[in-house]
Amino acid sequence: MKAAVINQYGQVSDVVTVTDIPVPAVGPQDVLIEVHAAGVNPVDHLIVKGFMASGELSQPLAIGSEVAGVVAAIGDAVTGFSVGDEVFARVDPRVGGAFAEYVSVHTALVAAKPKELSFEEAAALPLVALTAWQALTEQAKVGAGTRVLIHGGAGGVGSAAIQIAKHLGAEVVATASADSVDTVRALGADQVIDYRAEQFDEVLSDLDVVLDTIGGETQELSFRVLKSGGTLVSIVPIPDAEAKAARWNVDARSFYMRPHGEQLARLAALVESRQLQPIVERVFPLDETADALLKVERGGARGKTVIGVRS
Ligand SMILES: NC(=O)c1ccc[n+]([C@@H]2O[C@H](COP(=O)([O-])OP(=O)(O)OC[C@H]3O[C@@H](n4cnc5c(N)ncnc54)[C@H](OP(=O)(O)O)[C@@H]3O)[C@@H](O)[C@H]2O)c1
Repeated sequence: MKAAVINQYGQVSDVVTVTDIPVPAVGPQDVLIEVHAAGVNPVDHLIVKGFMASGELSQPLAIGSEVAGVVAAIGDAVTGFSVGDEVFARVDPRVGGAFAEYVSVHTALVAAKPKELSFEEAAALPLVALTAWQALTEQAKVGAGTRVLIHGGAGGVGSAAIQIAKHLGAEVVATASADSVDTVRALGADQVIDYRAEQFDEVLSDLDVVLDTIGGETQELSFRVLKSGGTLVSIVPIPDAEAKAARWNVDARSFYMRPHGEQLARLAALVESRQLQPIVERVFPLDETADALLKVERGGARGKTVIGVRS
């Protein structure tokens, strides 16, 4: 089968190739997914560069973090999925392999694909929607009336987080670039701040929760807009988190999302009730995986970049 692989860690344009590799083995608890589309995320170009690596590669590594497709085979112990089912999943980050014609995924990570979504749309959701869900419901306790600031509202995680926070009953402020303000408002944000034209820390205060998807100065300034006892949840590292939390009297926590089939099924139900909609910015063919990764690496996302494997 065709798959995007790396033989060594390095820059995307130097090491990512699309080549023939064997169809992956199917363990007793796995489903083999015939991939129709795979979402591209910043973590993918970071993995190419060696993020999370424990040493040099001893064999080719198939890359890709999330997938939508059709079940082509099931392991001996699988219940709940059958050949022909349309599914989507955030694949195990230690295994990867979504930018390929087939990927093998443990059933605990898989959910039925929402019927109203195309494969490209469904592939754009698992990683960002699970990240947003875990940030807002597990790391912070967002509920009715919670005042939340979401940074990077036009990006993958931010666009999912706005919709999920509104579903949870929150009052949502989001930051975005000028050309994304209308899109971000249409996702449900009650207030959108064009962060290049306006300093968010000068116009906001006393927020319950900030979801930081950016880091750096944006993260530093976010401490100032929280109320005492508020929560800064970040999906990028927080340097000196404990000291800053104590100084501002807030809870400051960063975390790494985990794949989760049952949560993904709940998010699929939000899609079906029209409370969550992926935004696909651009679809690349599998042969152009390196270009798709470079686009995500350049930033300025307006939704998700997707690899169309069978479209
Ligand atoms: N910890 C985890 O589990 C986890 C999970 C997913 C992602 N992440 C990380 O979280 C980060 C965001 O991921 P993503 O998928 O949402 O990225 P993305 O799709 O590239 O979106 C980032 C968005 O932020 C905007 N932006 C850039 N600078 C900004 C600023 N100063 N203020 C407000 N918005 C700004 C960008 O557009 P403009 O530049 O045009 O404004 C873009 O729309 C990445 O570093 C990723 O690796 C971590």
